[in-house]
Amino acid sequence: MKYSDIQNKLKGRKIIITAGGTIEPLDPVRYIGNFSSGKMGIALASAFSPYTKNLILIYGHITKKIPPKIKSIQATTVLDMYYKIKKEMTPRTILIMAAAVSDYKVKKLSSQKIKKSKCLSLKLIPTLDILKELSKHKAENNFFIGFAAETHHLISHAKKKLRNKKLDLLIANPVTQKHYPFGADKNKIYLVTRNKIEEWPLMTKEAIAKKLVPSILNLI
Ligand code: CTP
Repeated sequence: MKYSDIQNKLKGRKIIITAGGTIEPLDPVRYIGNFSSGKMGIALASAFSPYTKNLILIYGHITKKIPPKIKSIQATTVLDMYYKIKKEMTPRTILIMAAAVSDYKVKKLSSQKIKKSKCLSLKLIPTLDILKELSKHKAENNFFIGFAAETHHLISHAKKKLRNKKLDLLIANPVTQKHYPFGADKNKIYLVTRNKIEEWPLMTKEAIAKKLVPSILNLI
């Protein structure tokens, strides 16, 4: 796809990309987090940014620097990320949820530091599913993309998430001993849409992001 074709396809559209991991506090000094580095989301923002000014990166806990030319805001918890996305959302937004969003949070947040004891049990409850929630108000010209790391039944889980979260594209990546995406520079992905599955070879996250730009725009 030519530079001008990509620019034209993005005219009047906004791109929201999330990256990194959300965190859920336990007490004033501790949190539950995950191994996401933010590399994939940052690579996607870098790949799209030469074509549009209407792009925002909403990032959680990351281990990589965001290029200063990319407009970005930080989010901490799932709810914080949800409200920040919602505030930026427009009827023609392309939302790319590359963030690893926490699935659980503590039922009761401790206002004091939890003291050491022989054994500690935490009661966890599910967090808000951001994509599912946003899908309830999905506009006709919204395009929602999810990412899913799976240790088993990659494609069937991916298809289920595509349906349940009303996504237009689900990018699934295997988590095995051979392919461990968290914090890695390379990733192996499968593009899953309602009627197609496309397997890509192992590539750097930057190369994947650059190749995803025309692939995503061709689906819109
Ligand atoms: N996601 C989300 N809100 C959550 C959890 C996940 O919006 N509370 C998004 C992720 O950003 C990702 C997609 O949903 O784009 C799939 O995430 P994943 O963790 O694989 O899905 P879950 O629904 O949490 O399923 P699982 O039981 O496999 O963790």
